[in-house]
Amino acid sequence: MTERLEDIAAAMVAKGKGILAADESSGTIKKRFDSIGVVSTEDSRRDYREMLFRTENAMSGYISGVILYDETLRQKAKDGTPLAELIRAAGAVPGIKVDAGAQDMPFFPGEKITEGLDGLRGRLKEYYELGARFAKWRAVIDIADGLPTWGCVKQNAQALARYAALCQEQGIVPIVEPEVLMDGPVAAHDIDRCYEVTEWVLKTVFTELFDARVMLEGMVLKPNMVIAGKNAKKQASAEEVAEKTLRCLKSTVPPAVPGIAFLSGGQSDQDATRHLSLMNAAGPLPWALTFSYGRALQAAALAAWLGKDDNVPAAQKAFDHRARMNGLAATGEWSPALEREAS
Ligand code: 13P
Repeated sequence: MTERLEDIAAAMVAKGKGILAADESSGTIKKRFDSIGVVSTEDSRRDYREMLFRTENAMSGYISGVILYDETLRQKAKDGTPLAELIRAAGAVPGIKVDAGAQDMPFFPGEKITEGLDGLRGRLKEYYELGARFAKWRAVIDIADGLPTWGCVKQNAQALARYAALCQEQGIVPIVEPEVLMDGPVAAHDIDRCYEVTEWVLKTVFTELFDARVMLEGMVLKPNMVIAGKNAKKQASAEEVAEKTLRCLKSTVPPAVPGIAFLSGGQSDQDATRHLSLMNAAGPLPWALTFSYGRALQAAALAAWLGKDDNVPAAQKAFDHRARMNGLAATGEWSPALEREAS
């Protein structure tokens, strides 16, 4: 019997748990490995990810689901167990990145459109057979002088909606990820500009989801937080990020959506945790609010690992710590004191 989309989505945003984004494409994982001097091969990628998925406390206590890349969903652990099986055995749901990446958008200089809709129905059928029960599609919206344009916002939102409908047709929960980037080049990209653009993007995305007949109860939204750009002259306080992010989401995301799982987008590990915790502490909220972090969950583990077997226990400890801190943030119970104590 196929599971209900609502139940899968509810499991993905279960209380005190969040999603591990381990779906770096081959290019992105190479960049991460380059930063620690490890050569990216099929085996080294497998070893690294197997190490994460075998971190028992983190996986069974704080991780509700893992987003995988195509290669990883097909890979087996050293002992022959499929990696998706390890994830499921830990009580988490395996998911799959299905977009084919953001490409230059024709006639829209400086903007990107996410590709990957052609043949998606067939790929989703195969991913379902391989054990995936949710998927991810990331649209990228840049803030710069005169950007984003309406054409870019609209067409990325349409692609997200078409992807989401195809997923639901195949019994797969779509993670809908419209990411307004925080690392643009503009010094004027302050938190209020991010608010304005994020609000515009989310309103457009939900209009398109409605037009595409996507069932909101069977999806998870993965947005950016409302935050100043990295290069902004004026940075915002953590309280301001939490307050403006919540205000923006409350005005754009219908309560029928079961959960919102943020991307970390280049925030430091602790900022990503602090912001999430402040928002949950300001509840009650109409939806579950949790994490779907890539860098902010993995950076410490990656730095401890350095590609060496001897470092596996230290790397797993680092991952476990970050997962626990974010698990606490997902219920608003994280504090800097706990962070210090635990480390
Ligand atoms: P970051 O948390 O590193 O932004 O990655 C999350 C993700 O899945 C981006 O698509």
